[in-house]
Amino acid sequence: MSTSDSSQADNIERLLSLINSAARSAVAEYNKMGSGPPPLDSTQSHPTDVQEDVLQLKKAIRLLEATCDQLCATLAPPQHTMMNRAQNAEWACILVVIEAGIVDALDKYPEGAHVDVLAKDVNMDTGKLGRVLRLLATRNCFVEVDTNLFANNRLSLQLHSGNPVSDLAHCHVTLTPKAATVLCDNLTQDPYRLSYEFSNAPFMHSVQDEGLTGGFFDWMKAHPEKRSMFGRAMIGMGKVMGSSNVLYHYDWNRVSTICDVGSGIGTFAMPFSRMFPKATITLVDLPGPIAQAKEFWAKDYPEAVAEGRSVFVEGDFFVDIPVKDQQVYYVSNILHNWPDAEAANILKTVRKAMGTDSRVILHEYVVQHLNRNVGSISPSSDDNMVITFHFNFSSKDTVLTSFRSSTQAPQPLLPNFDMGSVRTYYQDFTMLVTYNSRERTLAEFNGLMMQAQLEFESIHDMGETCLVVYKCAE
Ligand SMILES: C[S@@+](CC[C@H](N)C(=O)[O-])C[C@H]1O[C@@H](n2cnc3c(N)ncnc32)[C@H](O)[C@@H]1O
Repeated sequence: MSTSDSSQADNIERLLSLINSAARSAVAEYNKMGSGPPPLDSTQSHPTDVQEDVLQLKKAIRLLEATCDQLCATLAPPQHTMMNRAQNAEWACILVVIEAGIVDALDKYPEGAHVDVLAKDVNMDTGKLGRVLRLLATRNCFVEVDTNLFANNRLSLQLHSGNPVSDLAHCHVTLTPKAATVLCDNLTQDPYRLSYEFSNAPFMHSVQDEGLTGGFFDWMKAHPEKRSMFGRAMIGMGKVMGSSNVLYHYDWNRVSTICDVGSGIGTFAMPFSRMFPKATITLVDLPGPIAQAKEFWAKDYPEAVAEGRSVFVEGDFFVDIPVKDQQVYYVSNILHNWPDAEAANILKTVRKAMGTDSRVILHEYVVQHLNRNVGSISPSSDDNMVITFHFNFSSKDTVLTSFRSSTQAPQPLLPNFDMGSVRTYYQDFTMLVTYNSRERTLAEFNGLMMQAQLEFESIHDMGETCLVVYKCAE
């Protein structure tokens, strides 16, 4: 056996051992909630499904997905793996299921419906619908309980019309592919190829026949039904990303004033306010979303409004944040919508509102490069992986090297957790094709922050996303 053969054999053993430990950690998370993981054909919700703090489960799944995928890619013939990727048609089948309301239609058949009956209910051809469902059931979405008899299960229920994850999926199987079909032309043809203008993004390129000016948000104004779907999708996105992890893995008890910049209706602010009733949270957004937020809070959490613990302020983050000197300015899922120049301008406006001791807390995906050249990182002993970089701002190289990465996967995985973090890169793709914007590396965030006289303080791994904390530069 050559040295490379033996090290490859070691790598495979390491992957097997990582799979074992990651799967056991995931099972332990289910067991903590009273009962083990439910079978895939279950339609009952498990307490873990609605748990807010899913950080440990997310970390276990990140490792499990990464190791399983790398092991399969290592052991399978390469042509096999590449065709699995090129031939992926799940998105088109998911589109059929959502638009035809298949999951809702199956509600009235808890034991499953014969595809003949289902096809009649949704006005489709039996044979064709059966094939769409069988493809999805092969990926564990729906169960074929008997020949041609299909039923809902844990996965398919995510596509129920009442579930905001279904709206998010709907966006990803309609708007993103629409933009993706022109990506190659967009990357190679003038005036698009070198442009980072909102209006030249592949999505706007794909709808040029509509004669609209501006970017994706202007297109949505002309398509109110898509705007509603997008609004609900943002709630689904919080669930998918496990956004509420942030409530449990940052020391918010020390925060008494917080401004949620570009808050939307308050998907972060409302659970925050419930959990930390001593703090005052101010939601800042454009007039439309602020009006929606007031309505939402008046219905769902009127006490916070009456007690002055939640405040609603209209503001344009390119012009002025009219809420000064808060301890924290929370900026979640905002910068990734904007190209660099606009993103830096938002931060400059936030910086003007800050007091000397204020902090900006970013909550976003953080992209990582695929090498292990990361400079000096000193993880604390905290399981939450708070990483603090100590660097000298006068040394550009040190700064850049130190900023290379946040958390790293164990060898032989790629440092960014391979398939376990792939949604970061799917999301980056969505940002590219929809807005001409991007998900960013830590170094890229730091570069934008420096333009606004803000400096890096710490980064907190939230399993899928990160919290990154910045203070005023001295
Ligand atoms: C992707 S959503 C993020 C919402 C929320 N922060 C979250 O994480 O769920 C972007 C938000 O930015 C707001 N926004 C867009 N342009 C804005 C502007 N110029 N000033 C203030 N808010 C703006 C939108 O209305 C929307 O609520």
